[in-house]
Amino acid sequence: MIRIFQKTASAPALLKLKKFTLVCATITLASCGAAKLAEPGAEDVKRGAQKYPGYTLEMMKQDKAMFEQKCNTCHSLKKPSSQLSEKWPSIVGGMTRRSLKKPEKTIKPEEANAITRYLVTMGKQK
Ligand code: HEC
Repeated sequence: MIRIFQKTASAPALLKLKKFTLVCATITLASCGAAKLAEPGAEDVKRGAQKYPGYTLEMMKQDKAMFEQKCNTCHSLKKPSSQLSEKWPSIVGGMTRRSLKKPEKTIKPEEANAITRYLVTMGKQK
């Protein structure tokens, strides 16, 4: 009898614990600046190809890798969805100019183009 009572009493506590764990996991993930970006998919390439004819999934994966490699040398990687798609070209332009002052962080024009292509494709849509 006592056993059964204990079991039922502990159920809500267990639920609370589960909720707590979930909240913790969410906070940990959100505070981690280097959260992993989703892999580009067919829908993304389709959207990108409207602006960049001939854009392929392979190209997009390379562009993403370039972004991940070049855009976290001064600060953590910003989320592509943090800016409107149309804002990205000027932001990347500004960051590229900034990078020229530091030889080890330099972003080359063709690298900037690749990064811009990826970010415009993945940026926030209006
Ligand atoms: C040479 C250092 C450096 C590199 C490399 C760099 N950034 Fe930055 N970035 C900064 C600094 C410094 C700031 C904060 C000051 C500012 O906003 O002007 C910043 C701010 C930003 C912001 C916030 C701007 C806003 O208006 O909130 C974004 C977005 C950004 N960077 C994206 C990028 C991207 C994308 C790349 C890669 C192409 C990149 N950064 C590479 C130095 C850099």
